[in-house]
Order: sequence, then C-alpha cells, then structure tokens
Amino acid sequence: MASAMEMLVGDQKIASQSDRWVEVINPATEQVQSRVPDADAGDVDRAVCVARQAFEDGPWSRMTPSDRGKLMYKLAELIEANADELALLETQDMGKPHFHSLNHDVPMAVDFMFYCAGLCDKVRGSQVPLGPDKHVYVLREPVGVVAGIIPWNFPLVIAVQKLGPALAYGNVIILKPAEQSPRTAIRLGELALEAGIPPGVVNVVTGYGETGAALCAHAGVDKLSFTGSSEVGKLIMEAAAENFRKVTLELGGKTANIIFSDADIDAAIASTVFTSCYNSGQICTTGSRLVMHKRIHDQFLDTLTSKLNQLQVGDPMDAGTKLGPIVTKEQYDRVNAYIKIGQEQYSPIECGQRQSGLDAGYYVNPTLFDHVAPDARIAQEEIFGPVISIIDFEDDDEVIRIANQTSYGLATAVWTNDLARAHRVAAKVDSGFVWVNCNNFWVAPIPYEGHRVSGVGADMGIEGVESYTKLKSVVVNLDNSPNPWVE
Ligand code: NAI
Ligand code: MG
Repeated sequence: MASAMEMLVGDQKIASQSDRWVEVINPATEQVQSRVPDADAGDVDRAVCVARQAFEDGPWSRMTPSDRGKLMYKLAELIEANADELALLETQDMGKPHFHSLNHDVPMAVDFMFYCAGLCDKVRGSQVPLGPDKHVYVLREPVGVVAGIIPWNFPLVIAVQKLGPALAYGNVIILKPAEQSPRTAIRLGELALEAGIPPGVVNVVTGYGETGAALCAHAGVDKLSFTGSSEVGKLIMEAAAENFRKVTLELGGKTANIIFSDADIDAAIASTVFTSCYNSGQICTTGSRLVMHKRIHDQFLDTLTSKLNQLQVGDPMDAGTKLGPIVTKEQYDRVNAYIKIGQEQYSPIECGQRQSGLDAGYYVNPTLFDHVAPDARIAQEEIFGPVISIIDFEDDDEVIRIANQTSYGLATAVWTNDLARAHRVAAKVDSGFVWVNCNNFWVAPIPYEGHRVSGVGADMGIEGVESYTKLKSVVVNLDNSPNPWVE
C-alpha cells in the first residue's frame, strides 16, 4: 500500500477514529499514490474543539500583530524552502505539469502568504466624529474559527488563499482539502507548526464532501470560506444560514474571452492558447467562451489551431508537457460527456499532440467548437476542461449581451487597442474580473469576487482579508446631561 499521510489536529498527526481512509489516485498513472484519513463528524468535532480552544485560550489571538506577522513570514519562507516537495505532491495528487506546480503554484502560494503576513500590523480600526458628546471607535476583530474548504484545481494556492487572510487578523482555521489532492494542505499545516505558529491555530481534516459538510454544519465554526462548484456553494450558504455564520464563496465561471477586430492578434492568440489550456482548462476563469469578431474569425482560428497543435498533452512530470491529465476519472468522464453534447450540434476541432507511449492517464486534448450559439449548453455550463466554444459577434452591443448571457459572472477578457472601447466594455460586463489585453491575471493585492452564480464576497486583496474580521463599534457617552426620555 502506498504511504499514508495523517491529518493534523493541534500538534497531533492522527488517523480518523473509524480508521477509514481516502485513496489518493495519481491521474497520470491511475494508481493509488497515497491515502489520507476519511474524517467523520466525530473527528471534525475534535478538530473544531481544538481550534476553538486555541482561539479562546491560546497565545495566537493575543500576540502583537507584528509578532504574528513574523511567524507568517517564516511560514512563507518555509513554503518556498519546501518547493520541490510541495510541487511533487501537487502534481502526483492532481496531475498538473510539474513545471507549473514548481514555477507557478508554489511561488504564488509564497506571494499570497507574504502579502497576508505584511498586512498583520497594518490593521486599523476607525473613529467616527460625532461632536463632543460621544466618543465612537470601530474595532476590527477576528471572527474566530474559520473553516476553509478547498478544491483540487489549485490545492496549495487556494489553501493559502484561505489560510493567510484567516491568520493575518488572529483567527484560527480548519482546512478541509479536496479528497483528490489533500497532501499539500497537510504539509502546509505541518510547516505552520514548524514556523512556530502555535498548535491548534492551523488544523487540517481530510475526507470527502461529507467531511466538509460536517465541518460546515458545526456550530463551533464562525466563518465558512469555500472555493468549488456553485452547486456545493449553495449547500454551504444554507449551512451558514443555520447559525448566521459569515461566508465567502468562490464558485464556477464561464469566462468570455472577447477578441475585437482591432486587437493585437498575435498577443490575443498567445493568451487564448494559455487561457484555454492552462491547468488543462480546470480553472474557474478558463476562457471557455472565445467570443470573436466575425471579420478576424478565419485568420484567428487558423493560427490558434496551429499553436494548439504544438502543445504536448501527456505525462505531467515530462518537462515538455503543457496539458497534464484531468484530475480524476469522474471529471474526465464529465469533460468527455460535454464534448459529446457539443458533438450533437457542432463538429469538434481536436488539437494538441498526445505524447506517445502513454498507457494510462485521464488525458483530454484541447478541443474547439466553432460558431456555437451563445445559449448552447457547452457555452453555458462550466465544463472544467480544455473545451472551448467559439461564439461570433459583429458589434459592441451584441458582444456585451453575449458576455452577460450566462448565470456566472467571474471574469471577462477584452482584447482591443481602442482604449475607449475597452473601458466601455469593462463598465458594462457583469463579472468580478475584467482583464484588458491579458488573461487569468491574479495576484495577492487584487480582490477576487465572483458576481451572481460565481460567488459571494471576495478572496484576497485587502477587502478579502478584511472579510475574516467582524466590526465592533464602541460608543462612549461623554454627555452628563439628563436623559430626556426619563422623568
Ligand atoms: P466540489 O464543489 O464538490 O468540491 C470542492 C470541495 O468541496 C472539496 O473539498 C469537496 O470535498 C468539498 N465538498 C463537496 N461537497 C461538500 C458539502 N456538501 N459540504 C462541504 N464541502 C463539500 O467540486 P467537484 O465535485 O470536485 O467538481 C465538480 C465541478 O465543480 C467541476 O467540474 C467544476 O465545474 C467545479 N469546480 C470549480 C472550482 C473553482 O475553482 N471554482 C474548483 C473545483 C471544481
Ligand atoms: Mg462534488
């Protein structure tokens, strides 16, 4: 049996009480790579109690912000120092090319942690001037115990995206990584201890959706922070309603990658290749709708397909690979089912170069569908694979209508050299991100907020970090005159 990894509660590495395990399958080999505990409600309860005690009685929330920041800097440095191991675990668990795990995911996780560490001692409350009779100040306090539910597409980055903001303001957290890719979150918890962050501040429970559901239902949790499907996001919001807990939800998307005829076509093509295939299309901001002006359609498509045909689909450990496998058999079937749905109406243009000699792995080649109707299922539903619907348009009003014609509102990309047009479109599309002449640009200082079915609240940026706090307004009466309401 492949080596198991236990979860982390306080400073204890533990199995589940039931001794049930989740098998972690490497999607490139289809073999069991590792196993982690399958935590039940009892295990979750234990973690919440440990976290609650660390919050109420431990040194963490009483530490000076600058001391907290120093420990978080140390954690960021440890993530960096352990890049090789973390990148390997990430690739073995979920299949993204090792080159990307090492050169994109780990550095991004480090940046996010540094950003949050730097915010610790920048926290400010405020004072509300109300004249001489009242002294009013507003405090920003930690919410308490946070549950961070993490998906499998950026396991380490998204774990840090929950962990950093929670820690910055003195909260404690229980991370629940995805069952497909749990190991980097466990290592992150261990590195937090190594950095000197007190036991119980960072806990990691592992298991399937049921474990996440038990965590979200627990009355001892004060905030639920989730990234994943809109379907589960809704369940999380319902769970939060039970005790009126705070929620942050980062959900699905159906990005319109809009190419106007006046765009820098070479740059737009290169970026379209990237946004269509990066992480094998398993990103909530994948440019899954390529919305293209009719005038440039043929030339753009020709060059795009020839570029896509150069991409190697194959072993994620091979340095030449650009698209690794899809994360699981289940997701692979789902992506292929969407390709079938597309095929009922349109002929697929299959691109990419499948590496020879592969005898296992859940691989999907980049696949385009051309002249797709904006309301077709493949243009409406999140596929989460390298499957792109090309939609034609002729004028600006039409393209804005198309961009907004989905229930999602996460990101839009606009390619044009006309400055006024870029800003006009940016103002009218209803999405949390608008990228002008770029794609998929996320860095720590920019808040990430989905509109409509894409989410509630922001991750990262100062706004996202502040969502891990609650306000307290203290009103001090300085007026001694009698209360007019009482005789
Ligand atoms: P999912 O939303 O079911 O899983 C995400 C996380 O939520 C995992 O940790 C899972 O264990 C947990 N979870 C599942 N059910 C839960 C529940 N009832 N309560 C609490 N936690 C629960 O996503 P899944 O099934 O892995 O992927 C399905 C689709 O979701 C994908 O095809 C994609 O369209 C979308 N997705 C979107 C992501 C994003 O970045 N916005 C990330 C992953 C998936
Ligand atoms: Mg699911």
